[in-house]
Amino acid sequence: MRLPFTRRPAAAPAPAPVSEGESLLEAVGLTKSYAGADGELPVLSGIDLTVRSGEIVALLGRSGSGKSTLLRCLAGLIPPSSGSVSYRGAPLTGANPGTALVFQNFALLPWLTVRQNVEVGLEAQGVPPRERARAADQAIDLIGLAGFESAYPKELSGGMRQRVGFARALVVEPDVLMMDEPFSALDVLTAENLRGELLELWESGQFPTRAVVLVTHNIEEAVLMADRVVVLGSRPYGTIRETVEVGLERPRDRDSEEFDALVDEVYRIMTGRPLAPRPATRPDRRTVAGTPLPHASVDGLSGLAETLAHRDGRCDLADLADELALDIDDLLPQVDALDLLGFAEIHGDDLLLTDAGTAFAGADVQDSRAIFADAVVEVPLVKLIANSLHGHPDATVRAGFFRDLLAHHYTSEQADRQLETATDWGRYAGLFAYDAARQEYRLEPPA
Ligand SMILES: Nc1ncnc2c1ncn2[C@@H]1O[C@H](COP(=O)(O)OP(=O)(O)O)[C@@H](O)[C@H]1O
Ligand SMILES: [Mg+2]
Repeated sequence: MRLPFTRRPAAAPAPAPVSEGESLLEAVGLTKSYAGADGELPVLSGIDLTVRSGEIVALLGRSGSGKSTLLRCLAGLIPPSSGSVSYRGAPLTGANPGTALVFQNFALLPWLTVRQNVEVGLEAQGVPPRERARAADQAIDLIGLAGFESAYPKELSGGMRQRVGFARALVVEPDVLMMDEPFSALDVLTAENLRGELLELWESGQFPTRAVVLVTHNIEEAVLMADRVVVLGSRPYGTIRETVEVGLERPRDRDSEEFDALVDEVYRIMTGRPLAPRPATRPDRRTVAGTPLPHASVDGLSGLAETLAHRDGRCDLADLADELALDIDDLLPQVDALDLLGFAEIHGDDLLLTDAGTAFAGADVQDSRAIFADAVVEVPLVKLIANSLHGHPDATVRAGFFRDLLAHHYTSEQADRQLETATDWGRYAGLFAYDAARQEYRLEPPA
């Protein structure tokens, strides 16, 4: 329901009109690798994606799944390693002339006023000063910044700064507005308010852009805003797992059953969890090269186990996230951890505490440590550390040893995070001690 453009800065000739539903952006067979210390690090593989006039497309995935990389490829800021990106049918050879970006961290120039920040893009296009000022004021007005034209970024709240980010992108009237986690740096209420205002503008046809690509890790945000949710999986590297059409009428009601059902569906796709209970054999979990350890502390996973116990051992994950005012994916590491330890299982949309999980949640500190120790010795990385120390009462093993082993299969960031988790879990279970100053593991002295 986009209105045709009413105004376009003089130096940027209006592209030929595109009718609703026509392709604006297209990626075909896109792959992308970055050069790393041990050669190429594959990030995206086999991506086919079309963005059409009139739609909001969300790219949804966990951190590290390659969302920002894909967005940068679509914007022509980095070239794909293979495959192609085209804009209005023409393959890109540099920056995409039809896109403008909004960043998570606003990326404003601190020495420029709001108006000057908004004018930056137009200046680069060679738009004359008077025209620039007029266009900037119009964008500033549209996005609710009127009165702040002469303010500097440091005088503004986070929400107002991000409005400047939006105005700066919208002022060039891009065919496709691209947003990379634009609400993630804002507090919950500010983010919700800004989402609502943007959707109102979009729904009323006042948005001077034909399509939107929104990068997010927030499932509800994706379902609230997008016409299509493209779910990126990250194992072993970013591919499109599935695309979900969101047919809900706008404005959307977050409390409706249809909304909940879609959130649940997307959650299942994102976590790769089947509807039926998963089979008991999980061969990929037996080695450190298998599924990476989720980044969940003992406190965090215990908290989730106790929360479940208080609800008779069963609850719907989307509801739980809602009640705790968390994004569902903030809960995923804890859910994965309980699952890995055999303390909980996923059945459909519900998380169920197992008998071991119930015992763990109900036990006093000493017993809960013992129950935890029984479960955690089967976790490959924890087992590896414990076994390396075993039989050497005075031995120490440096963390770097395990980090190097992990580096064969993971990025250094992922390796560090897993080691952090394994250390936390193994220490709590009393399997080994860790000296952070020396970065060394040793056996726990007998109690
Ligand atoms: N410039 C870069 N050089 C090397 N690796 C990178 C670069 N940018 C991103 N990566 C890696 O690519 C993967 C995907 O990153 P990114 O696209 O930022 O994911 P997301 O936005 O989904 O969190 C990550 O493992 C990240 O460390
Ligand atoms: Mg990102």
